[in-house]
Amino acid sequence: MDIRIGMLGFGFMGKTHAYAVENLKYFYKNLPFTARITALCTAHKDTSCAACAEYGFDRACGSEDEIISDPDIDAVDVCTPNIFHYETVKKILRAKKHVMCEKPLAVTYEEAAELARLADEAGVTTQIVFNNRYMAPVLRAKQLIDSGRLGDIIGFRSAYLHNSCMDPNKPAGWKQTGEYGGGVLRDLGSHAIDLVYYLCGDFERVSGKSLIYYRERAGMDGAVWKTTADEAFYITAQLKSGAIGTIEANKLTVGVNDDLSIFVHGTRGSLRFSLMDPNFLEFYDGSLPGGDYGGDRGVTRIECVNRYPEPGGVFPGVKAPVGWLRGHVGNMYNFCSAVYEGRQAAPSFFDGARISAVIDAAERSDRADGAFVAVAQP
Ligand SMILES: NC(=O)c1ccc[n+]([C@@H]2O[C@H](COP(=O)([O-])OP(=O)(O)OC[C@H]3O[C@@H](n4cnc5c(N)ncnc54)[C@H](O)[C@@H]3O)[C@@H](O)[C@H]2O)c1
Repeated sequence: MDIRIGMLGFGFMGKTHAYAVENLKYFYKNLPFTARITALCTAHKDTSCAACAEYGFDRACGSEDEIISDPDIDAVDVCTPNIFHYETVKKILRAKKHVMCEKPLAVTYEEAAELARLADEAGVTTQIVFNNRYMAPVLRAKQLIDSGRLGDIIGFRSAYLHNSCMDPNKPAGWKQTGEYGGGVLRDLGSHAIDLVYYLCGDFERVSGKSLIYYRERAGMDGAVWKTTADEAFYITAQLKSGAIGTIEANKLTVGVNDDLSIFVHGTRGSLRFSLMDPNFLEFYDGSLPGGDYGGDRGVTRIECVNRYPEPGGVFPGVKAPVGWLRGHVGNMYNFCSAVYEGRQAAPSFFDGARISAVIDAAERSDRADGAFVAVAQP
């Protein structure tokens, strides 16, 4: 089966999804399907054309309707600003196409609930993007909670912190603009809320408080503008189970980068995950005995490095931490750029020979029972 995907929007997330589609075959073994992006529509036809030329998608479209009505497209991937999700997804469902939509599903609850109902009626495959659920430590956290290793969940602290609203002179993007369905609660808060929902269960009631610290900042055109969307949002939440916790979404936290974290504590244990430390899940098993000097009690740092089960666990394998592949992409870029520019690349074969010289000397030393030996010089 070949899944032909029409993509709407090709900013940060459009590129991210395209990368995922193109690389599925490396990360999942013997896939019974292929998937490819066959058509793209962005806000302007010329940017769609430029992206198709650069990334090799078959066709640039001038309107989303062209994609939605195309019988040769099986699924639509919605990566547009939040304000457009509702009308677009409604049309896609009416056309009975499969649809994946970036978070938040819609700007208001009424719209989102309607889309959920229409999705049921349409009988197609639908998915909202909460990508953090697929991080190995989060999957392991879910396993631990579902198997009762934390006992009853008492509470949680979930936070998604950025520093991206700290410069009031930087022109606002649509994510800082209420009219586009922006604001930190919908943007980062949706992820922080979803982690609680996924790991701990559904919500009963919440108390919320928003903050706009920079009341005036540069608007989209650079001129002084009144901020129209929350820059930070604080929630206290109670779940149906009775568990209580806090959720914070904040773009005013100087000194952090992409800091999503969750701490969950129950009657038997607790766990902690941070997106900035994505190879590990911290787990405290309260059933282990303490004792003299501490006994066995303490936090286990579970090494989750790429430990995805088959068919997803073959590449890049459990020895490759998150981020390792990026080094290889950088390495390949370096070589290809040098070939293209007709110049020598670095590290060079000279550098390679220097490493071999050290290996050779170390082995000679080993044979001489560890005596110092000279490293061969060029
Ligand atoms: N899951 C995540 O980790 C994550 C991260 C960032 C953003 N998002 C979500 O992804 C969506 C897109 O965000 P982004 O950061 O890629 O935004 P972006 O501003 O980088 O890109 C938006 C894209 O949509 C296009 N666009 C705008 N209006 C359009 C229209 N009417 N029809 C077709 N295309 C249109 C623009 O040309 C652009 O290509 C948002 O819903 C956002 O909340 C998710």
